[in-house]
Amino acid sequence: MITDSQKDLLKASKVLVTGGAGFIGSNLCEKLLEFGAEVTCLDNFATGHKHNIEPFLENPNFHFIEGDIRNLETCIKATKNQDFVLHEAALGSVPRSINDPITSNDVNVSGFLNMLVASRDNSIKRFVYAASSSTYGDSENLPKVEDVIGKPLSPYAITKYVNELYANIFNKSYGLNTIGLRYFNVFGRRQDPNGAYAAVIPKFVMQLMRKESPVINGDGTYSRDFTYIDNVVQMNLLCLTTDNKQALNEVYNTAVGDRTNLKELTHLLKQNLAQYDSDISRVEIKHGPNRPGDIPHSLASVEKAKKLLNYNPTHRIEDGLKEATHWYWDNL
Ligand SMILES: NC(=O)c1ccc[n+]([C@@H]2O[C@H](COP(=O)([O-])OP(=O)(O)OC[C@H]3O[C@@H](n4cnc5c(N)ncnc54)[C@H](O)[C@@H]3O)[C@@H](O)[C@H]2O)c1
Repeated sequence: MITDSQKDLLKASKVLVTGGAGFIGSNLCEKLLEFGAEVTCLDNFATGHKHNIEPFLENPNFHFIEGDIRNLETCIKATKNQDFVLHEAALGSVPRSINDPITSNDVNVSGFLNMLVASRDNSIKRFVYAASSSTYGDSENLPKVEDVIGKPLSPYAITKYVNELYANIFNKSYGLNTIGLRYFNVFGRRQDPNGAYAAVIPKFVMQLMRKESPVINGDGTYSRDFTYIDNVVQMNLLCLTTDNKQALNEVYNTAVGDRTNLKELTHLLKQNLAQYDSDISRVEIKHGPNRPGDIPHSLASVEKAKKLLNYNPTHRIEDGLKEATHWYWDNL
């Protein structure tokens, strides 16, 4: 949990959030502003939205740069006079990377490298970046522990693993402090339900609200460690402010340490949404083929984050889904 002295440190800090107009980035901006930090958001709206940052535009502590991390000059300008970087900008989605590996690589690898170079040159104190559970690839070990990974199963997974390799080398070669957060299926307010590459929770919520049948890939027994956004925000802020030097230059699973299968997930979603409209409980769930590259199960060990960062997840999936469905009901 974040202590008062960690909150004081945030209040006195300047933080650049790349991808700040996206789902996770906008939640990070919001919390940082709440703690009194000065926040700069860099985003090109590739998948993010103006409406995600609209509430912050009036705040004198919020600054926005519309720009692309594929441009080194933009990264250098954005990191100038900043203390910390939370690097969220990337093209997410495994299927997107399979359809267009070149653009995913340009943004997720070349853009990442630009941000590392800019952070090194502008003496950023800590560079905390969005890594991914996809780095576990074909490893079947459960729970996933940080130092046992398999072979990547998609171009996206390669880009996220390369991020970890580059971050490590930037620490070893130039002394830049980095921390990678391997996010596991994050969900919550402002996650985009639209588009071909929408994540399962917002997509199913929107379909259920429209009384359309969600389609589960496979028989519904595949499971994931679904992680509510508040836990992810906590991890990022702990990384920025921890005084434990041993915690730096590491990667951490960012999850809850529970797994839920797709059948259970759709049941919980229907149950939550039926409180607002009882007809939703009668929407039929359909099944399609398994998606290529999908692993059957994913479950994180969060012991390393608990031990080194004092991480204490506040929301299990049921708590998170309650808040998220409420938010979607009010905002979609
Ligand atoms: N959501 C998850 O479950 C999950 C899981 C693992 C890793 N991640 C990683 O977390 C990060 C944030 O993901 P998210 O779910 O908030 O996605 P998102 O698409 O909502 O946010 C990504 C943001 O990056 C911006 N962006 C993309 N390309 C850019 C570029 N070239 N220059 C500047 N900005 C650019 C987008 O406009 C968007 O606002 C990503 O790095 C993603 O790979 C997310």
